[in-house]
Amino acid sequence: MVPELQKATVRIQQPERVMGIIRSLREQGMNKLQVISDFDMTLSRFGCNGRRCPTSHNILDNSRVISEDGKKKLKDLLHYYYPIEIDPNRTPAEKCPLMVEWWTKAHELLSQQKIQKGDIAQIVRESDVMLRDGFNELFDQLHKYNVPLFIFSAGVGDILEEIIRQANVFYSNVNVVSNYMDFDDNGVLMCFKGPLIHTYNKNNSVLQGTEYFQQLSARTSIILLGDSMGDLTMADGVPSVENILKIGFLNDKVEEQRGKYLDAYDIVLESDETLDVVNGILRYIL
Ligand code: TMP
Ligand code: MG
Repeated sequence: MVPELQKATVRIQQPERVMGIIRSLREQGMNKLQVISDFDMTLSRFGCNGRRCPTSHNILDNSRVISEDGKKKLKDLLHYYYPIEIDPNRTPAEKCPLMVEWWTKAHELLSQQKIQKGDIAQIVRESDVMLRDGFNELFDQLHKYNVPLFIFSAGVGDILEEIIRQANVFYSNVNVVSNYMDFDDNGVLMCFKGPLIHTYNKNNSVLQGTEYFQQLSARTSIILLGDSMGDLTMADGVPSVENILKIGFLNDKVEEQRGKYLDAYDIVLESDETLDVVNGILRYIL
């Protein structure tokens, strides 16, 4: 059915159930399908040649527009809060207030740096960000078959939009909900627009009023792509889900997190920097 599922990076707890879902997705066809995806470390790469790739926040943090003092403070926040974000021994409910703290502090620091809207494109161009191998095929296929792609990101919307624009894949079927910057009349960053999206509130609570999923109520087949345990709730606002396939990229602390990921995601991709499996499944379905 899908030869890519034989890759060494693929782990599946219930293979028969997964094959059943994939068969149903194919039977329902492309007109019923929508893809809901996280951005950072899911559509973008986690690492390359042993080096970490930046998140949309990191792209700003590492850029020339941030002062040395600002860089240090942002790095300190990352070193304190990131281990909490991925700690398999804490529940999402325990992590939630700490993530609000992290995002709030980081956005305050960024808002003090007089970042100019007009500098964003250059900042992204000069960064080390990379989309996962196979991103072209993924975006092109979804566009070709008119399958909606909803990118639900706790990153920085202005940055991630610029990344996919520069990659020439920001097609009309792509919709983004994320944290967007609010600039003053001179194009200088003042603050971030609400509601704040962090790793563990990616659910209906921040989508109220966007009506996105209501318009797509006939799209009852879903492929969900994520890399964090917080990404699992991204489809909660879809009114009538008939088939959902959850694919999780397990990037970091693989051994420690394997059990939880296998319980929660239908397909787990361990240290796999490609979109091969997603593309293989789409090739079979579309
Ligand atoms: P995502 O929802 O698109 O994956 O984006 C969230 C990621 O951003 C999450 O893994 C943590 C990361 N992050 C930073 O790298 N730096 C920051 O300052 C903040 C607030 C988040
Ligand atoms: Mg992510």
